[in-house]
Amino acid sequence: MTDSGALATTIADWLREATRRLAEAPAWQAPGDVDVSPRREAEWLLSAVLDKNLTWLLTWPERELSPVQRAQAETWLQRRCAGEPLAYLVGTRDFWSLPLRVTPATLVPRPDSERLVELALERLPVDGSVLDLGTGSGAIALALASERPLARVSALDRSAEALAVARGNGATLGLPVRWLESDWFAAVAGETFDLVVSNPPYIAEDDPHLPVLGHEPLTALVAGEAGLADLRHLVATAPLHLAAGGWLLLEHGFAQAAAVRALLVTRGFMQVQSWQDLGGQERVSGGQWFGASAPVRGDEEGRAC
Ligand SMILES: C[S@@+](CC[C@H](N)C(=O)[O-])C[C@H]1O[C@@H](n2cnc3c(N)ncnc32)[C@H](O)[C@@H]1O
Repeated sequence: MTDSGALATTIADWLREATRRLAEAPAWQAPGDVDVSPRREAEWLLSAVLDKNLTWLLTWPERELSPVQRAQAETWLQRRCAGEPLAYLVGTRDFWSLPLRVTPATLVPRPDSERLVELALERLPVDGSVLDLGTGSGAIALALASERPLARVSALDRSAEALAVARGNGATLGLPVRWLESDWFAAVAGETFDLVVSNPPYIAEDDPHLPVLGHEPLTALVAGEAGLADLRHLVATAPLHLAAGGWLLLEHGFAQAAAVRALLVTRGFMQVQSWQDLGGQERVSGGQWFGASAPVRGDEEGRAC
């Protein structure tokens, strides 16, 4: 491919030119992406177009692309350079080695959230119950269901569109999850769980990273009160839905750990701590609930805490 848009013919040519164009278009590089480089991104993109793995791609650099393949690759490259996530172009993203369908109605599951899954598995009894709040594509709930076949896994989301995707993923993978359309805990009033997990919206409305994430649903990303509004609500309300000794685990932004720990301590959680992701950032915080030993402040179902 040339600057004027003429099309390359071989895999090697296409990768070289796509790498150059991606390097000049930083919009595609979203925060939270790991192991990304323009060259790697070009390889992923072309392997998705050709439906071949990376090894095949690198083994056959002189193979010519057909006109249909070139047209498809060019369309996807242009959309990728404009910042559209690769997962939306190809329609899938692997999470916890589960192939998940994703759409613009769902957040693209991040590898960071696999840390939340690991911590949840350490705390979920073999035949226990777990609730995933704001399930999106169903990533966290399905990962837990895949590892704990005897557990009762529930997952909810306020977005009917996201929930339809999650439900479809559960059906495709044959993993039993109870899917609920709900504004946070509304649909599970009166129920308790051994574990409650969530990767809620936590980005502040004025966060400079937000424009880069513009292809993903804002309702999945942004929360008021400097990104803490939903986290605050979940900490305040989760005790009504936790069995004695149950854990609440929350994913959050790298600069929010101290604030979330303070919320948990104030609410009366025990064993309050934060855990680092692979990049050494504190991205998950949680605590264990043994009852209202500490004074509760504010309306429990409200957002005051
Ligand atoms: C950051 S995304 C996480 C999606 C998924 N758990 C993941 O990790 O890929 C937050 C999710 O919370 C959902 N959400 C936002 N507000 C909600 C509310 N009030 N009640 C239930 N779900 C909500 C959004 O629709 C979105 O799917």
